[in-house]
Amino acid sequence: MVHTGGRAAKQSVQPSSFAFRPGRRSILKGLGGLVLLAAQGCRRSVQPASAVTLVLGDQTWLDDQFQDRRHQELNQFTRETGIRVEIVPAPEGADETLSAWRALLESGARIPDVYAIDVIWPGILADNLLDLKSYVPDTEIAAHLPELIGNNTVVGRLVALPCLVDIGLLFYRTDLLKRYGYHGPPESWKELEDIAERIQAGERAGGQKAFWGFVWEGASSEALTCNALEWQVSEGGGPIIESDVITVNNPRSGGAWARAARWVGTISPPGVVAYKEWDADNIWQAGHAAFMRNWSTSHFGTRLRGSVQGLMTGDNFDVAPLPRGRARTAATVGGRGYGVSRHSLHPREASMLVRFLCRPDVQLARGRKIWGTPTVPALYSDTELMAANPYLSTILKAYRNGGVLRPSTTAGKRYPEVSHAYSEAVHAVLVGRKTAAGAASDLQTQLMQITGLKGT
Ligand code: GLC
Repeated sequence: MVHTGGRAAKQSVQPSSFAFRPGRRSILKGLGGLVLLAAQGCRRSVQPASAVTLVLGDQTWLDDQFQDRRHQELNQFTRETGIRVEIVPAPEGADETLSAWRALLESGARIPDVYAIDVIWPGILADNLLDLKSYVPDTEIAAHLPELIGNNTVVGRLVALPCLVDIGLLFYRTDLLKRYGYHGPPESWKELEDIAERIQAGERAGGQKAFWGFVWEGASSEALTCNALEWQVSEGGGPIIESDVITVNNPRSGGAWARAARWVGTISPPGVVAYKEWDADNIWQAGHAAFMRNWSTSHFGTRLRGSVQGLMTGDNFDVAPLPRGRARTAATVGGRGYGVSRHSLHPREASMLVRFLCRPDVQLARGRKIWGTPTVPALYSDTELMAANPYLSTILKAYRNGGVLRPSTTAGKRYPEVSHAYSEAVHAVLVGRKTAAGAASDLQTQLMQITGLKGT
C-alpha cells in the first residue's frame, strides 16, 4: 500500500466503541485473529433478544469520519431494538476479505452473525448464508433494484439484501482542467491520455515533481479485474464470459490491455502495477494526480476527508462516467449487501440488523449525509437527497449507460479462480512479461479449463 502524506485511510483508524475486544489491531493481524474470535463466539450461549450483542463483519472504510457515521447508525439500531452490535472490520482488499469470510463461514464460526457481501460473492458464500426470504417481507425485498436482488439470489435463495451500489467512475480535477483550458472531462481514452500528459507536464514544470496524469488500480487483484474489464468492454472485447463463451482472446481485449501498459511510466506512475484499492486513492487525495479511476464509494471518502483536511473539498474535483473506447463507455458494477451466517446463534436478531442496514429510510439518511449510493430506486427521486448529492445523478448515469457485471453468476464458486487468472494475465501485459496476444491466448486456455466453457 502506498502512503502519501500520512493520508492512508486505514492508518488513521482509532478503535471505536464498536471495535471488537481484544482490539482492532489484533484483528487486523489477519485471519488468525478472526478465527480466534470466531472460536470465542462458539462458546457463546443463546441470550434473550435485549441482551444480544451481534457481530457484524464489515467490508468498508475505516477512517474516523466514516466510523463516526456508522457508529451513529448502529446506535439508532440499538435504540430501536435493544440489540447491540460490534464490528469486526474486514482485512484490506476484496480478495483478502473474501478469504477471511470464507474461512470463517466454512469453519462453522458462530460469529460474525452478519457479513458484508460483495456483489461477486453470493455464489461463493451461499451455502453458509441463510435464505433471507424467510426473514424479510416480500415488499421490503421488492424495494431494491431487481438486478441486485437477482444477483444475490442463488438457486432460489436470497443470500444477501442489497445495501450499496458501487460503480467505476472517472475522478477529475476541475481546477486543473480549467487552468489548462479544458471545458469538461475527457470523453474518450485518447482524450484522457492527451489531457493527462499535458497537465502532468505543466504541473511538473511548475514544481510538482511527483505529479501524475492518471492513477488507477493495477496490482494483480480483484481491483485490476474491474479496471481491465472496463478497458476491454469499452473497446468491444466482451465481458470475459458472455452467453457461456469466454471472450478474452480477441484483438480488442488485447489492444485495450496493451494501451494500459503504455500508460505505465508515462501518464501513470511505474508503481501503478502494484496499486490496490487504497493506493490510487491516497495519491489522489494528496492532490498528486489529475485523473483517477475509482469507485463511486471513493467519492464519499474524498468528500468526507476533504471536509476535514481541506484539500479535496468538492470545489476542485468532480466525477464523470469513464471514457469511451471504440464501442462504448463501461463501468464495472460493484457494491454490497448484508447476509446472515447459517451458523449464527441469533438468526432472527441478525436478520433484523440486515433489514435495518438496508432499509430505505436508513439508506436515505445515509445518502443525505454524503456516504451511500442507494439500492432502492425510489430514493433517487427524493429531492433533498439529490440536492445534497448532485453527483448521484452521474453515478446513476454511469450505472445505466455503462454498467457491466463481472461473470460471478456464471462462474459461481469458480469465480475467484476466473478473476485471478484474468488479473494475472492482464498484469503480465502491464509489466511487459507477455505480449497482449500471448496473454490473451494463454488466458483463454486457462479459463476453458477452469470453467469447462468454450472460447471464441
Ligand atoms: C469495490 C466494489 C466491489 C469490488 C471491489 C474490488 O469495493 O464495491 O464490488 O469487488 O471494489 O476492489
